[in-house]
Amino acid sequence: MAAKITLRGFEIHKEYLDDAAQKALIGALRPVLKAAPLFSPETRWGKKMSVRMTSAGKYGWYSDRRGYRYAETHPEGMGWPPIPQEVLTIWRDVTGLERTPDCCLINYYGETARMGLHQDRDEADFTWPVLSVSLGDDGLFRVGNEERGGKTESIWLESGDVVLMGGPARLLHHGVDRIRFKSSRLLPKGGRINLTCRVVD
Ligand code: SIN
Ligand code: MN
Repeated sequence: MAAKITLRGFEIHKEYLDDAAQKALIGALRPVLKAAPLFSPETRWGKKMSVRMTSAGKYGWYSDRRGYRYAETHPEGMGWPPIPQEVLTIWRDVTGLERTPDCCLINYYGETARMGLHQDRDEADFTWPVLSVSLGDDGLFRVGNEERGGKTESIWLESGDVVLMGGPARLLHHGVDRIRFKSSRLLPKGGRINLTCRVVD
């Protein structure tokens, strides 16, 4: 049964998408991944990230030794494909906003991928929320504080869960410690996809 949990101000909509909606979303992402293939960005310290990523929308999130930023083109040179309608519908229904997101970042976590605790703060205006959609294998999502350090709390995000990171919780640190590889059958080769939609400008 779908349920809404609040964790430190993050709104976690468990089982927001049923199996059919998850499959439809994967179908909608397939042409996006074909037009803008996943790549492994480098951190500003020159280390390859374990998560592979790409984006849809006006901007894509990008990282290299020059730092984190939004870019108007994929590293291979092409523009980012449009954000699928299915994603925009989730955004509108969960956020209630007319304004559409400028970027849908697509993160792919393979068996050993993780994402360290960080804040989403490359956007111009933090009054807009960030919306995350999880698909495929379970991911252990950790939520911390606005400041670095301190106590954290974790929750397993499963396929179909949607998280709204907004309001006073917009700048909380968060990350993914590990995934439970092959816990879901949505992606035939296993792994986890997380979409995050942001208003950038
Ligand atoms: C992110 O913070 O960009 C991703 C969060 C997640 O994978 O659940
Ligand atoms: Mn983030």
